[in-house]
Amino acid sequence: MDDVREDLRPLHCPVMVDEVMGLLNVKREGVYLDGTLGMGGHAAEVLKRLGENGRLIGVDKDEDALSYAAQRLQDSRVSFIRDDFSRLGAIVKDCGYAEIDGILLDLGMSMGQVKDMGRGFSFNSEYRLDMRMDNRASLTAWEVVNRYKMEKIEEILKEYGEEPRSAKIAKAVVSSRKRRSIDTCRELASLVEEVYGGRGKTHPATKLFQALRIYVNGELTALHGALEASVSVLKAGGRLCVISYHSLEDRTVKNFFKQEKLKGTFNVLTGKPVTPGAGEKNPAARSAKLRGGQKL
Ligand SMILES: C[S@@+](CC[C@H](N)C(=O)[O-])C[C@H]1O[C@@H](n2cnc3c(N)ncnc32)[C@H](O)[C@@H]1O
Repeated sequence: MDDVREDLRPLHCPVMVDEVMGLLNVKREGVYLDGTLGMGGHAAEVLKRLGENGRLIGVDKDEDALSYAAQRLQDSRVSFIRDDFSRLGAIVKDCGYAEIDGILLDLGMSMGQVKDMGRGFSFNSEYRLDMRMDNRASLTAWEVVNRYKMEKIEEILKEYGEEPRSAKIAKAVVSSRKRRSIDTCRELASLVEEVYGGRGKTHPATKLFQALRIYVNGELTALHGALEASVSVLKAGGRLCVISYHSLEDRTVKNFFKQEKLKGTFNVLTGKPVTPGAGEKNPAARSAKLRGGQKL
């Protein structure tokens, strides 16, 4: 761990690693896809369990994450692919496989992304509002905050942040940007602090930041795409494991498994979602929920 920045060390304890590995049940000669390679924490654990003929397809749409993971893992059994996990069907085919043994999705952002102030994900960032995981994408959080109509901002806040003060915040955003553009994360976070009249235990801008990030990165659309694709990509007996960090994601995963169980395509392995135990080392894991299923 000596080569790892102090603030990135928790990442080297991937979330619920024992529970994830238990559900994924890695076979030595199997082929696995990690759709959210991030800092390579879970991938390293998969690799420990794979034999020399096993393969891992490591996907991330973030260029920095992919190069960090490639440098960290340095393993010829891994194919590193910069793409969106919603395209996992095409990715698997391009890698030369008809079907694979397991898929892991650990949704949301990595600590590397949060800690990199220039990426504009953090309340404290003095950098431009950005929030793109894929820097090739054209839509940034700045565009949404400074160019979108008030009604649309309110809708995004309600739908993706479940923010109770969505109308008030949208109004404050539009009135503030009339004076001058809202350029940095800090400026936007302060505006929400004003609407809420201060800061509680959780920063009042948490829901707004979550909503913007989900919208800018099309996170729920991508999740739907990946879940649908997993049905045809997994072998019979193959496993799908998903870790989510907020209720919108977890609801999507839960409903997917429910629907596929009824169709007879998946056996659900987690009646209730698995949550972090008292010994969980990664502080970012507090809200994590893990669900898994086996393709029939
Ligand atoms: C929580 S981190 C994964 C951490 C990783 N499991 C580890 O142990 O280091 C989530 C990662 O998924 C990536 N990501 C999120 N949505 C994606 C998508 N639709 N397609 C590809 N990568 C995505 C993010 O860029 C981020 O690096």
